[in-house]
Order: sequence, then structure tokens, then C-alpha cells
Amino acid sequence: MPTRVLTGITTSGTPHLGNYAGAIRPAIAASLKPDTESFYFLADYHSLIKITDPARIQRSTLEIAATWLAAGLNPDKVWFYRQSDIPQIAELTWLLTCVAGKGFLNRAHAYKAAVDINTAKQEDEDAGITAGLFMYPVLMAADIVLFGANKVPVGRDQVQHIEMARDFAARFNHTYGEHLVLPEAVVEESVATLPGLDGRKMSKSYDNTIPLFAGKAELKKLIAGIVTDSRLPGEPKDPDNSHLYTLYQAFSSAEKSASFRQELLSGLSWGEAKQALFETIDAEVAPMREKYEALMAKPELIEQQLQAGAEKARAIAAPLMKELRYAVGLRDLRDTAEREKKAAVKKALPVFKQYRENDGKFYFKFLNAHGDLLLQSQAFDSPKAAGECIAELKVGSITTTQVEIIGWCLVAGVSESDVVAALKELHAAAEEKH
Ligand code: TRP
Repeated sequence: MPTRVLTGITTSGTPHLGNYAGAIRPAIAASLKPDTESFYFLADYHSLIKITDPARIQRSTLEIAATWLAAGLNPDKVWFYRQSDIPQIAELTWLLTCVAGKGFLNRAHAYKAAVDINTAKQEDEDAGITAGLFMYPVLMAADIVLFGANKVPVGRDQVQHIEMARDFAARFNHTYGEHLVLPEAVVEESVATLPGLDGRKMSKSYDNTIPLFAGKAELKKLIAGIVTDSRLPGEPKDPDNSHLYTLYQAFSSAEKSASFRQELLSGLSWGEAKQALFETIDAEVAPMREKYEALMAKPELIEQQLQAGAEKARAIAAPLMKELRYAVGLRDLRDTAEREKKAAVKKALPVFKQYRENDGKFYFKFLNAHGDLLLQSQAFDSPKAAGECIAELKVGSITTTQVEIIGWCLVAGVSESDVVAALKELHAAAEEKH
């Protein structure tokens, strides 16, 4: 089974260099790994929690989709879709809501932080807090488990959400049987967290970002504004305490970084250093920028891509949702008995088991659906001879004479009719499959 990797991108802003180096670039590289199925989606439902300006959500969705495509995501190889195009996500959110512990949600970091702010201001705990913010982790859990994701690459701040998703999925399974895969968070320590213009982590909330697809001139201007210390040209700089150097490293090879480091130590001026940084970043970004601009000019192409992605995603979501609806009791009133019969057949069938003993000979036994031994074979010289006997039993009906001929032994306490019934059961299951 390939590993399913899934991550969501909230459509609440314009992608910046930090998003690119920290999430987009590694995600696209990971999507090329063998034995991996990648699910990347635009979390537009999540954006409604923070943003009430519809035009901004639409704009951000367009920009983020264009960014991922321009950065080289191959939509034929991955599942790339928009959350709100998958109605099963909203549907599953409700099923999970009904097993999610409210106390657990009370302890979610984002919600608690909002409550703490209210408390500090001596306001009502929940002043201005929507149920959307409170339920955020449940929606996120639905995103994840609907696609049976094994791994969810996230930043540290999101680890608690993955733990909650695991908890809700486990509670669901405990109540309704094993249906959901429990996801695991993957925190990539080696992935760059980029500093922003002021040296704090590059983040929209600090207003210190460099947009990934700023035009060349703007990119240059923004880089010129990066805060540095006041060392003069010719004075040695300290690369380990320079945001500029951190940014440089994220966009160049180890060798290039090492020689840049040397130059800083030998007194390169900040002006020259900024020029070098601009050139390094622009070398990586320029080819993508061109694609990005072409895509932004044709929203219909991106929409088409997302529609195709959604269809591909729904092909996975719909069957699981159907199974879950049935599991909880949201059922077609007519098909209960039949489905139950099918489910029972699926659960357990009689089996033949072949094995080799210490005497070097080959044997097999026949067990019923409960695992009780019905028949024990004689010794065979080869696995092929044993297999032929099994095949014969599977197609024909068993009679006493046959049993004698091929050397079966009825196990004590088992009647021949038990064996016949088990064989019939196997037969019926095989027929049903065809
Ligand atoms: N909450 C995530 C963030 O802010 C975005 C997100 C939504 C997500 N659904 C997800 C991430 C599912 C991983 C898996 O970054």
C-alpha cells in the first residue's frame, strides 16, 4: 500500500517566500517520491473562520492554486482540489462532531488563546469567538480521515490538530467498527523556517513577508529593506546572526552558501550582500513567476484543473462516505438485510491453509469461518500436489468416497455435512465475487 500524504493550505493570503521554502517546495518534492500518494488541497472552508471578505477568499484561492501549479505540482500525479468542492468533507465533519469530545475541543490551542485574550480583557470568555473557530479541529479531522491519510506534514503549531484527528477517528472506530485510518503528524525539522523582513518568522500576522511572486523591482526593494546590523562595508559580518544569510541558504546550494558566508566574514557590504541575495532568489523564482503570471491571466484554466482534481478526490471520498453513513445507521430502508449478509460474508470465510511440516512433507487443513478445524490432509510430496487436491475440493462436492480417495481425514467431532456446508459457503462467496 502506498503511503498517503495529505495537507491543506488555508486560502487566506498571498503565498510568500516562507510558504514556498517551508511548505510548497518540500511538498512538491515529496509528491515525486515513489510509493506515495499526495493530497494537496485548498482549505477554503477553513478560511471562512478568519475572513469575511468574499473577494479576498476568491482571490487567495486563485493565487494559491496558481502558485502550486507554477511551482511544478503535477496535477495528474497528485490529488489537487478545493475543499469546498468535496461535499463529503462537510458531511463527515458532522459525523465526527458527534463523537468529538467537547472537553478536548476546549483545550485546542487556537481556541484557548482566544479565550485567554478575552479573559485578560475581563470580557466574557467567548466574546467574539465563533463556533467555527471552536470546531476548526473537527473540520480538519474530516479533511484528513476522509482520504485515509497516513501522514500529515504540518508545522509545530498544527501537531495538536493531528492528535485531535487521531482521537476523533479512534472514537469513531471504537463506536462503529474499524473504518478510519489514524493519521500521523510529520514535523519536518530540516525544512526552512524563513525569517521575514524584520527578522521574526516570516508570517502574514507580523506583516513582514516577501510575496513569492512580487515583480523583480518589488522583490529588490523588499530585500533592500531587510533589517541588518550597522556594520560598515569592509567590517566582518556575522553570518550566524544574519537573517540575510538564512534567506540566502534557503535558495542556494551548500557550496554557494559557504562561499557567501566567507564573503560576509571578509567584510562584504550589506548593500552587496542584498544584491547577491536578490539575484539568488530571483534565479529560482523568475521561471515560476512567468508561469504564475500566465496562469493568473487565465482563471478558467485553473478552475478546470480544480474541477478535475475534485472529481478525482470525490471518487475516493464518496465510497468511504457511503460506508460511514451505513455504519452509523443512515441507511436505505430497503437494503439492510442484504448488506448485512454481504458484510458478514466479507468478515469471515472458511479457509484452506497450506503448510510444510518438519518431516519435509506438505499438508493442508480446512477451517470453517470461526477458525475450527474441519479437515486435516494426508502428507503430500509437493505443494503442487496439495494444491491440486484443494482445487478439486473447491470445485466439486465432497463425498465420503472422495474423502477416502484423496486422503482427507475428518477431524474428530466434525460431521461430513459441516464440511459440505463450509465448502458451499466458500463457493457462494466466490460466485458473488464474479
Ligand atoms: N489548519 C491548517 C493550517 O492552518 C490548514 C489545514 C486545513 C490542514 N485542513 C488541513 C493541514 C488538513 C493539514 C491537513 O495550516
